[in-house]
Order: sequence, then C-alpha cells, then structure tokens
Amino acid sequence: MKLFLVTLCLSVFIFNSAFAQSLKSNMKSSQTLLKQIAATMNDTTKNQENAVNVSKMVVFFEAARNQSPDSGSLKNYQELMDQSIVLMKSLESAFKANDNALVLSIMQKLNTAKKEGHDLYK
Ligand code: HEM
Repeated sequence: MKLFLVTLCLSVFIFNSAFAQSLKSNMKSSQTLLKQIAATMNDTTKNQENAVNVSKMVVFFEAARNQSPDSGSLKNYQELMDQSIVLMKSLESAFKANDNALVLSIMQKLNTAKKEGHDLYK
C-alpha cells in the first residue's frame, strides 16, 4: 500500500512537471503565437490559420489566468486577463469573418492590454 501511494505521488509529480506550464511559459507560448499572427495578419490567405493560432493562444491565456503573478492584486490581474481573453475571442471571430480592419483594431487593443498588464505585474 505504501509503495502504491509513493508510486502514485511520483506519477502525479512527473505528470505535472511534464505537462503543466508555468505562468512564464504560458506567456512565452502566447508571445510566439502572437508574433506569428502579427507577421501575417495582413495576408488574408492566412486568416483561417490565424484564427486557429488565436484559439491556441486562448488556451495558454486561460491557463495563465488561473495562475498568480509574483506580486500585485490577484483580482485585478484576473480581470485584465479576462479582458485579454475576450479580446482574443473577438480576434478569432474577426479572422474567421475575414474582417481584417477589425483584426487590426483588436490587435492594437491587445497590445495596449499587454503593456498595461506588464506595467502592473511583470
Ligand atoms: C497578448 C498579450 C500578452 C503577451 C503576448 C504576453 C507575453 C509575455 C512574455 C513574453 C512574458 C515574458 C516571459 C519570460 O520571462 O520569458 C510575459 C510575462 C508576464 N506577463 Fe505577459 N503577455 C501578455 C499579456 C499580459 C497581461 C494582460 C498580463 C496581466 C494581466 C500579463 C502578465 C504577465 C506576468 C505577470 C508576467 C511575468 C511572468 C513570470 O515571469 O512569472 N501579461 N508576458
């Protein structure tokens, strides 16, 4: 029984370290996707691919939203993260609808949200 419990704990630990990402790595993964999106956002032939990339970014952001920054108000952090997620979801819709003027304006808002978040929490 003891051996079983030790093995179970070890497996959970190994599983977590292999699959759970830190806040920092969730941010890094989002940045990689955002760079790819920014580089191709004016190319309408990439709109559907970019919609997929935005949906991947949402997954990283939803994980990061439930993590804690090293300092600052957790409630405000979560609100800012929620706002960014709402922006990302409308960005995904704009790509799907081939509305690249809207894409541009949401990307600008996302950059402002990023700057605000980083000024407060990074
Ligand atoms: C599109 C939006 C964003 C992108 C692409 C982004 C990207 C990044 C990147 C590249 C880092 C540095 C990771 C490293 O040290 O290697 C970072 C760190 C961080 N970001 Fe963001 N960010 C975004 C928005 C936000 C927002 C809205 C907030 C807060 C509400 C936020 C909070 C943080 C925090 C707390 C860190 C420090 C993480 C740590 O080192 O533990 N970010 N972000």
